[in-house]
Amino acid sequence: MSNVVCSLDEIEPGTARKVVVDGQAVALVRIGDDVYAIDDVCSHANVSLSDGEVWTDTCMLECPKHGSSFSLTTGEPDTLPATRPVAVHSARVEDGMVIVGVTS
Ligand code: FES
Repeated sequence: MSNVVCSLDEIEPGTARKVVVDGQAVALVRIGDDVYAIDDVCSHANVSLSDGEVWTDTCMLECPKHGSSFSLTTGEPDTLPATRPVAVHSARVEDGMVIVGVTS
């Protein structure tokens, strides 16, 4: 099921914010006018990825705790200590609103 979560204007380009969709914490990331959605909880420990740095050039979100960066398109981490991917969810912009569909 898809949900309107916020307007695109509410997310600064190059930043992430946490939203809860269908009870699932999701890190929503804006790069330019594109949005990406991955699980907010790091696969290594219970840390909110949306508090981390967005790498716009590589389309990744870095965990603020230990520095593993997760691909916004595959959910795979690029470095240790995280070894498992996080889930990737669908995200799109329609009429200036961000719509997210959570994959369970
Ligand atoms: S908690 Fe995210 S890499 Fe350790």
